[in-house]
Amino acid sequence: MKEPAWAIYLTTTWLLLKIKHMKITGLLTTGLLLSQLIFAQHKLVVQANEKGPAIQPHMYGVFFEDINFGADGGLYAELIKNRSFEFHQPFVGWLPFGEVTVDSMNPCFDRNPNYVHLHEKGLRRGTGLENEGFRGIGFKQNDAYNFSFFARSLDGAAKKFRVELVSSEEHIIGRGEITVEGTEWKKYTTSLTARHTSAKGKFRLILETQGEVDVDHISLFPAQTWMNRENGLRKDLVEALYELNPGVFRFPGGCIIEGNTLDTRYQWKNSVGPVENRPLNENRWNYTFKHRFFPDYYQTYGLGFYEYFLLSEDLGAEPLPVISCGLACQYESTECEEVHDLGPYIQDAVDLIEFANGSVDTKWGKVRADMGHPAPFNLKMLAIGNEQWGEGYVERLIPFMEVLREKHPEIQIIGTSGPGSDGDKFDYLWPKMKELEVDLVDEHYYRSPEWFLENAARYDSYDREGPKVFAGEYASHHKTRNNNVKAAISEAAFMTGLERNADVVHLATYAPLFAHVDAWQWKPDMIWFDNLSVVRTPNYYVQQMYATNNGTHVLPIQENGNNLTGQNELYASASFDKHSNEIIVKVVNASSDMKEIEISLAGLKKSIEGQRVKITSLQSNQEEAINTLEAPNTIIPTQTVTLANKAGFNFRANSNGFYVCRISVRK
Ligand code: AHR
Repeated sequence: MKEPAWAIYLTTTWLLLKIKHMKITGLLTTGLLLSQLIFAQHKLVVQANEKGPAIQPHMYGVFFEDINFGADGGLYAELIKNRSFEFHQPFVGWLPFGEVTVDSMNPCFDRNPNYVHLHEKGLRRGTGLENEGFRGIGFKQNDAYNFSFFARSLDGAAKKFRVELVSSEEHIIGRGEITVEGTEWKKYTTSLTARHTSAKGKFRLILETQGEVDVDHISLFPAQTWMNRENGLRKDLVEALYELNPGVFRFPGGCIIEGNTLDTRYQWKNSVGPVENRPLNENRWNYTFKHRFFPDYYQTYGLGFYEYFLLSEDLGAEPLPVISCGLACQYESTECEEVHDLGPYIQDAVDLIEFANGSVDTKWGKVRADMGHPAPFNLKMLAIGNEQWGEGYVERLIPFMEVLREKHPEIQIIGTSGPGSDGDKFDYLWPKMKELEVDLVDEHYYRSPEWFLENAARYDSYDREGPKVFAGEYASHHKTRNNNVKAAISEAAFMTGLERNADVVHLATYAPLFAHVDAWQWKPDMIWFDNLSVVRTPNYYVQQMYATNNGTHVLPIQENGNNLTGQNELYASASFDKHSNEIIVKVVNASSDMKEIEISLAGLKKSIEGQRVKITSLQSNQEEAINTLEAPNTIIPTQTVTLANKAGFNFRANSNGFYVCRISVRK
């Protein structure tokens, strides 16, 4: 049967329309799919009324070790290197001129006996010494510098000294005078002001009067130290720590507590009392690591245990000292103290608790009080050993624990799981730590960014009944070993897992903390500096964003019923802050694509519509971007605000981005 013409016309028109419609719909669908691929949308649900485990208020902190010139030449503001002439060669760091010799007869300080003897015979240039500082001395225009030394005139008659601040161009940019008189050792001081800035200057001391003078402990500090304290700390570096808001301060190491030999282990008792008489010790980081050799790396202990406790107090951080357990650095040596000879080591631990917490009537409490702090430092934790391993560690930890548990049950004891994140040493030690019932186990891991990204669920399966975890040293090591965005973002991603497991992970400290750009042994490091300025790395900002936003309780946050531990390269954690009544959501986009994030806050009793959501973000499309001395602010956190809708809020998470969102919720 033949179709009528009108029917053919209608069918054809219908078919044409259908094809056109299909094209449009097809285009739309493809567009939508593409945009979803490009700007994938993720719906994250926070159970706002399901308060989970408490987060330790001091969870995120710092680990300080004198590595990379972190203390002498770094945080400790002394500008003179080898001020007591006790280095293996007494003139390391010094350039003597005229007649200068080293002596130790009738010393000024019995535990640092070397001093210099200057004999001026009317030479044209005079007699004296120049000090090179720690890779130069940084002077800032118009800043004052406090000079001091101890001296005696051999015939008692007055002898005049000139002191000079010298720029890297050999110009004298500051000058002062001191007259020494009398045959007894005395301290002399004067103040100098720098007329110009110089990053690599030096210091000069010249005896101008003919005759003989002995001189010791030649010291130069910027007048402006942190809190303007004498024997103080470098202000800009402490400010960087202060802004980090660390909850815990682990010190003084690291391998240096172990020493290359037991003799050179860190002994805290040598680091307290008058600064001039704290005996110099070599630094375990005076060599090693890629054959970089630092024969001029010593510990003056000018920054000692008293100063560490004081700094912890200033920062509002819990002090966490680490002490030797009788094993020298196991990477360097097999030397160890016999278990039955550990008495003095254990006594050091007991005395340390007395130094920190004892009343002023006790022997060590009095030392603390005499140094200026009668109130206790409120020590709560003590780590026995650094990253030791093997049976030798367990055998030594046991007697420490027996004594400490009996005498100081209030102190939490931290044991270790060795130098790695897994493997034989780790697998052996963790069960041992459980058996011994230490309070926390220190874990160390320096791994690749990929490892950090893959391990955000590391603690999900940890035993909830055993000791708690202290991630005491960790850092993402990019193949360049730079503190770049990729490394920082992988740490941020991993840390969502620390936060989600805050019932198990009680403390976490990135490592190492500081590095001098001209004198480092290890990298990456959280904060870099030269003699005049400081660079906060992207890794620093990640730590800061955690430490200033940790909340008080974990909240569940999921996508499609799953924790976000790397699916689609997304990571998330959430918490509630009972003090500010805010919900804090952390999201990490470790991919190279932008993602649309929709956060819904389930279970809230009151509407949040229109509420401000403060978003802090650290992000860069350049995953290898770094901050440098020349461009310290290339990667810094930025703040934005968005408004909440009825259910929650939305934001765009750009590639390599870490986002912290805070919204206040009404009760
Ligand atoms: O942080 C640098 C070093 O790494 C520490 O001294 C040591 O504990 C670890 O091996």
